[in-house]
Amino acid sequence: MKVSIVGSGYVGTTVAACLADSGHEVVNIDVDEDVVENLNDGLSSIHEPGLDKLIEKHGGDQLRGTTDYGAIRDTDVTFLALPTPSTDDGSIDLSVLKAGARSVGEALAEKDNYHLVVVKSTVIPGTAEDVLVPLLGDASNSIERRDFSIASNPEFLREGSAVTDFLDPDKIVFGTDGDERALDRLHDVYHPIIEETDAAVVETGRREAEMIKYANNAFLAAKISLINDIGNICKEFGVDAYDVADAMGLDDRIGERFLRSGVGWGGSCLPKDVAALCAAARTQDYEPALLHAAVEINERQPENMLALLDDHADVSDKRIAVLGLAFKPGTDDVRNSRAIPIIEGLRKRGAVVVAYDPVATENMRAQFPGIDYAKSATGALENSHGALVVTGWDEFTALSHEFERMADPIVVDGRRVINPKVLPDGATYEGLTW
Ligand code: UGA
Repeated sequence: MKVSIVGSGYVGTTVAACLADSGHEVVNIDVDEDVVENLNDGLSSIHEPGLDKLIEKHGGDQLRGTTDYGAIRDTDVTFLALPTPSTDDGSIDLSVLKAGARSVGEALAEKDNYHLVVVKSTVIPGTAEDVLVPLLGDASNSIERRDFSIASNPEFLREGSAVTDFLDPDKIVFGTDGDERALDRLHDVYHPIIEETDAAVVETGRREAEMIKYANNAFLAAKISLINDIGNICKEFGVDAYDVADAMGLDDRIGERFLRSGVGWGGSCLPKDVAALCAAARTQDYEPALLHAAVEINERQPENMLALLDDHADVSDKRIAVLGLAFKPGTDDVRNSRAIPIIEGLRKRGAVVVAYDPVATENMRAQFPGIDYAKSATGALENSHGALVVTGWDEFTALSHEFERMADPIVVDGRRVINPKVLPDGATYEGLTW
């Protein structure tokens, strides 16, 4: 098939590269000329395991980049993978998505056969139906001709494992208004993946598809906050929350994943989506008590981590290492990283922060230009009076004699990646929930 994808962020680029690898002819539209040029040169603009190889293989050939929306006229289906960020009150900001949809509509005005537009972006239930259908119809002058339809196909891939998640998903959700042409086309796009994997295909309405995405992320956020709440209680009672979670996870109804307690959830999705769902619920006069609690617990975890350091040292004017800046391992994304409140808290205490991350340093430097950045974990630990482990990178698990370089070996682990046995004699190790 010929597929166009609007947006070259984590989702758009991954979907574009994976669909090209599945045999489709793909064009990826973005306003950023550098990103487009990179794609045509076979280079990835984002750090995502496996993505660079796919783009190197297909870029400029099976996978092309362009800034021209007119390219969609030569395709059968267009995916909208544009950001839907939060406004100040947490509600969803549809301005970028609407502008993109308008450009798609204008391009479709000059297309004379059926076209399917698929919403990949995360949107509040009713957005496809109430916002995008009229907008596209208006921009393309074709609402009466009914020669386009809009489907919802939310994305569940995770950053850091985006390629494998997309190519081997647990489920694929097709939300349509019942138009058979839309459903057939979605099946055609996903045919190679459906054939080769055990993915469940869920065919449902558009509103349901939109809600499934929020419900998924809200559940994951609440699951982590619940285990953090339990973990905080464990810490008070001298109980190891990881032993508890391991046993809980053996219950099929609970499952072992997303039970890692620690400094909490960040990223561009869980915080934004929980906030948007709460804001949407409020417009209907419903207060989602559990989701509010999940957010509150998450906001408290960084301060709990800092309090553990306070128990052992006055950090004012002391050099303190922050290990890990990315919101999770495997990505250079620092959006809503728990490292942000940790760095802010350390600076409020007057500490001299020296931070290290294997790939996210430059992104964090844009946010905190005034702190020191080390080139290695060893460099960050050198002469420090405390270390806070914020991202669970594998390379931190391998650290051992490097801790001997600390002036004061106090290690507070927010991700359970340091083995306390490797610390020098007399060192202090605090796990956040164990
Ligand atoms: C999340 C969802 O997992 C994806 O299914 C979804 O597609 C994506 O949002 C999205 O909406 O685009 P992502 O934000 O990439 O994916 O990251 P996750 O793997 O969900 O991790 C989120 C945060 O939770 C990270 O800060 C991570 O460190 C934390 N986490 C995760 C824990 O603290 N404990 C855990 O057990 C798991």
